[in-house]
Amino acid sequence: MTERKLDGKVALITGGARGLGRGYALRLAGLGADIAIIDRNLKAANVYEFERQLLSADTVIAECEALGIRAMGMELDLTDRDTTEKAVGEIASQLGRIDIAVCNAGGGTFVFADERDAPDGANDTQDLVTTGLPSDTPEEMLTRVLDINVKTCMNTCMAVVPHIKKQGGGKIVTVSSTAGIDARGGYHPYGTSKAAIIHYTRALAQEVGPDNINVNSIAPGIIRTGRLGDRSERAKEIALRREGTIEDCAKVVEFLTTDLSDYVTGRTIIIDGGYLR
Ligand SMILES: NC(=O)c1ccc[n+]([C@@H]2O[C@H](COP(=O)([O-])OP(=O)(O)OC[C@H]3O[C@@H](n4cnc5c(N)ncnc54)[C@H](O)[C@@H]3O)[C@@H](O)[C@H]2O)c1
Repeated sequence: MTERKLDGKVALITGGARGLGRGYALRLAGLGADIAIIDRNLKAANVYEFERQLLSADTVIAECEALGIRAMGMELDLTDRDTTEKAVGEIASQLGRIDIAVCNAGGGTFVFADERDAPDGANDTQDLVTTGLPSDTPEEMLTRVLDINVKTCMNTCMAVVPHIKKQGGGKIVTVSSTAGIDARGGYHPYGTSKAAIIHYTRALAQEVGPDNINVNSIAPGIIRTGRLGDRSERAKEIALRREGTIEDCAKVVEFLTTDLSDYVTGRTIIIDGGYLR
């Protein structure tokens, strides 16, 4: 990460306050981009010990600034379109432009501790494990999981496209999952929401290709973050025999947000160490 090939660019990372989103923010900041983070809780890293230990400053925004770029954060719920549009407008006005968006905010069928707690709450509640079947999904779960994945992604894309067009082009990365491709496992309706993101990515790429905007998706597999915990026991199911890391995904995001991927659009890159067969 020596060449600062994103100098002068502005990148928005949603859900960047911890986990994979934090990794994308730091990676693009290291390449010279100014960073805007939108998260419903800018201190979300405090919720899990694994994330707290990774932090080298109070917030991811401060970590990005330490890399010598400008960084800002906005705390809001991306399931609301109007709020999202206003926040993106504010970012464009404060940082001067938007060139890149990584639509990473999302979540699964578990209701995680921080979703149940006060936003700055600590580890004092357990994740609530819920289940859904394709033939029987509780209404509350269906709405929540589709909203947190599909709506947050679409609201972000719809809000950034006019700003990216103004720059004469740019890059959008959406975040799917191997669960959006593989129908095994108890991930319903998470998998359905992540499959929808793959389709949306292709459709948006067709629309904004003539505006020089590349839109691609990543589909991570089993990646170690605080939220999902240690799943190293599943290494035997993976061709490369290890869990993925945040850096494994950030490297692909670097590819998709730089000139390396200039002729790639509407595609989904699976980052799973050969988990899917
Ligand atoms: N970790 C994995 O193994 C894995 C695998 C496949 C896909 N993914 C996807 O990658 C993304 C990040 O995963 P992670 O493990 O880092 O999760 P995470 O929970 O650690 O990070 C998600 C971040 O998004 C924020 N967020 C969630 N809903 C939001 C909303 N409505 N508005 C604003 N912010 C919101 C959360 O506060 C959190 O900071 C998710 O979309 C997830 O589905 C993760």
